[in-house]
Amino acid sequence: MENIQKFFKNKKILITGHTGFKGAWLSKILLNWESRVVGIALKPATNPNLFDSLEIKNKMDNYFIDIRNFRKVKEIIIKEKPEIVFHLAAQPLVRDSYDDPLYTLETNIMGTANILQAIKETNTVRAAVIITTDKVYENKESGRPFKENDKLGGYDPYSASKAAAEITIDSYIKSFFNPVDYNKKHRTLIASARAGNVIGGGDWGNDRLAPDLIKGVLKNKKVIIRNPDAIRPWQYVLEPLYGYLLLAKKLYEGKKEFSGAWNFGPNSRNFLTVKEFIELALKILNKGDYIIKRDLSNKHEAKLLKLNCDKAKKNLGWQQILDINKTLKLTFEWYKSFYNKEDIINITDQQIKKFFN
Ligand SMILES: NC(=O)c1ccc[n+]([C@@H]2O[C@H](COP(=O)([O-])OP(=O)(O)OC[C@H]3O[C@@H](n4cnc5c(N)ncnc54)[C@H](O)[C@@H]3O)[C@@H](O)[C@H]2O)c1
Repeated sequence: MENIQKFFKNKKILITGHTGFKGAWLSKILLNWESRVVGIALKPATNPNLFDSLEIKNKMDNYFIDIRNFRKVKEIIIKEKPEIVFHLAAQPLVRDSYDDPLYTLETNIMGTANILQAIKETNTVRAAVIITTDKVYENKESGRPFKENDKLGGYDPYSASKAAAEITIDSYIKSFFNPVDYNKKHRTLIASARAGNVIGGGDWGNDRLAPDLIKGVLKNKKVIIRNPDAIRPWQYVLEPLYGYLLLAKKLYEGKKEFSGAWNFGPNSRNFLTVKEFIELALKILNKGDYIIKRDLSNKHEAKLLKLNCDKAKKNLGWQQILDINKTLKLTFEWYKSFYNKEDIINITDQQIKKFFN
């Protein structure tokens, strides 16, 4: 693993979505590495939430604004002058996207466009990593792992919004941040990062398996499984974050070939059905039971999603570090410690240190 910690020391970094699950982990990593971190997001949406648990609010500059507000986004970038941007703010849930498609589309497409346009109109950002998802590909459920140049598409509004964000990113790269014109017409390199489902401590979003499971188990309730046969990739939260950080460093260093789209997914041994996942988790927790209640609503959810990550492995030197057992162990140990009221900041710091060392 490349030692990237030193690079980030003293860099001025903007993270959008820093009050969310992945954003709070990323903020904590960069604060531990002595970056100067600024965040744009809405206030935390759940109680508890990782942002408050890690007490990072006072260690960074926080702007609680809506990413759809271009004027405010631009004002913040002018004021804060970030050198590197990680854009994670989004409406990230497929199910919620069926309930409010317009909000999902506005946040995920126009939110991304606002960030790109604000970067274009200001002059400080050298590198930006825009986070989308593995769901951006047209998914015919053939089982073939998707490559970065596969056709984009989206059945549900969330996937469509992220695919549209990808097209927008590609357009901005070609039109305004073209690597060919780097250091001539502009000095910014942009990449998009497509990762699959991640798990790790501190996620309390709706419809997320790990927190639902642990809450049920701790209350001695049976865990309800809606889609037992759905195959999902399970990746520890720090795996894609390591990819985003590596990518940002390369872009900042002016390595033009890193502009563009990147997949960050788990290898096939980390693919489990929801039922296998629950069974392994209950074994690690040494407690709990489940029942299957099949989901009879007709909301469509993709059954099979695999990413081909050869590009990231070969060109970026990125690879998955932890196997599925370690992934689940770290995740459930985190939640257990949280609910046992242990020092969760220290536990989070230890997980970060261990992973990056
Ligand atoms: N968690 C996963 O498994 C997963 C998988 C693939 C991709 N992603 C992507 O990673 C990113 C982060 O996901 P997460 O799981 O941390 O989600 P999350 O829901 O925990 O966090 C979302 C963040 O975005 C912010 N946000 C949402 N709407 C906003 C708005 N209108 N204006 C400003 N901020 C807004 C929230 O305040 C929060 O900080 C998202 O872009 C998501 O699509 C997540």
